[in-house]
Amino acid sequence: MPEPFRHYEDVPVIDLPADPPVPELPALDVLGGEMGSTPAQDGPAFLSELLFYSAAISASKRVPSTGERYSLRVNPSSGNLHPTEFHFITRGLIGWADGLYHYRPSSHMAEQRGLGTFELAAAIGSPIVFILTSIVWREAWKYRSRAYRYCLHDIGHAWQALALAARSMGCRSFATGRFDDNQVTQICHFHDDEWPLLVVGLAGDSIPVVPSEPKTSHWFGGRPNQLSPETIAYPLIERVHAATKILVPTVAGNPSVAPAEIRFAAPAQSSRTFGETVRKRRSAVDFVGGSRSLSLARLSTILAGAAAPFFADFSGESFIRLYLYAHRIDGLEPGVYRLGKASGELELMRSGDQRVVAAGLSLGQNLAGNACASFSLIGDLDHATSIFGDRGYRYVHFEAGAIGHRLYLAAEALGLGATGIGAFFDDEVHRYLNFSSHDGQVVYHFAIGYPAPDLRLSA
Ligand SMILES: Cc1cc2nc3c(=O)[nH]c(=O)nc-3n(C[C@H](O)[C@H](O)[C@H](O)COP(=O)(O)O)c2cc1C
Repeated sequence: MPEPFRHYEDVPVIDLPADPPVPELPALDVLGGEMGSTPAQDGPAFLSELLFYSAAISASKRVPSTGERYSLRVNPSSGNLHPTEFHFITRGLIGWADGLYHYRPSSHMAEQRGLGTFELAAAIGSPIVFILTSIVWREAWKYRSRAYRYCLHDIGHAWQALALAARSMGCRSFATGRFDDNQVTQICHFHDDEWPLLVVGLAGDSIPVVPSEPKTSHWFGGRPNQLSPETIAYPLIERVHAATKILVPTVAGNPSVAPAEIRFAAPAQSSRTFGETVRKRRSAVDFVGGSRSLSLARLSTILAGAAAPFFADFSGESFIRLYLYAHRIDGLEPGVYRLGKASGELELMRSGDQRVVAAGLSLGQNLAGNACASFSLIGDLDHATSIFGDRGYRYVHFEAGAIGHRLYLAAEALGLGATGIGAFFDDEVHRYLNFSSHDGQVVYHFAIGYPAPDLRLSA
């Protein structure tokens, strides 16, 4: 297993203030699109709160056989391997030098990789611009070629973690997937094991800024730590990454199409704050099976949270369709349902108990059958690539991860548990759902229910 944390050595490291304030707006309101506010008066306080609620360590687990502890973060990650790194460029933040930084979650600090004005942030026109990168080796040592997909999902989760934390603090965000990969790598001097995948700009009056003149940049750079003594190449990953690269001299732009807006009813209520919800969010290792069921109102609220609009240059249309395996939903006959694209309508595709099948399709993982509801997220790759070329492959997976992230938070806000599931038998899912080659491809699975206690966990 590679080192779980990337550090840049030989650079100034800056403390972020401890114990940032809790975003108090209910999580379900944030998911529904409401803006919060923040008391942060300066750059360090603002960044500390933003990162504490989007990327920081939030709990740990103990391995019973060895007694060893390992950390868990606000954002979930396949296998808890965390290939995503949060870099950010700032401009004009009060009490914080303009420059390029890398977030160090292990100590809630920022590594200062460069000072001055960076072209990328200037082009986007935001005072804070995040560049989310992925170190694919962190996943590939374990999941081999399939790791590329998980890295893309993780970016979708990290994007929403950031966008929703920003919203809870009164900021808008806009994600750009279309940029020149090599140019961004060059601007940020990323090591060749780290690939930029998404650029997220933040804007809003709650960001404490003063006007800032362009400054010449001073580069510290830093030496990235070596994550493993040696790595194994996965040619399929190299190929799919190369095929989805854009090599044109553009950086970021405005959305070419308006964000998709899908409305579901959101009848269930919860006053649980955004801050508490994101810090308490965990993946259930299993669910309590048996007779406890989920009300249709709560399911509808969870789906409403997932269906609220995304703000990105690839979100004009939704490429993901949800198929629901209803195991124990009050008022809903067990079966497989397809969710309507533009409403909360459920279309029954197959009736009968799905628990054994759902677990079987998810690589025999019982949690998919013990949950109250599990899902197949079906991606329309043909449609995405017809609009965006091969780059569309990435966007479909980002969207799936982003939907998964909202499902996690909505479930957590309602006192339920959830788990993203990347391991499933693709072709078996297609066969079971009677798909022809035009019906899309399964890209993610998900499960929601009553979590079984996890004794390894401590807050
Ligand atoms: C893309 C993705 C795929 C995942 N796949 C699985 C899976 O197949 N089975 C499982 O039990 N958990 C899965 N998880 C959950 C992770 O194991 C979990 O997020 C990680 O252990 C960290 O725990 P946390 O979510 O409580 O922070 C997945 C998570 C993500 C984001």
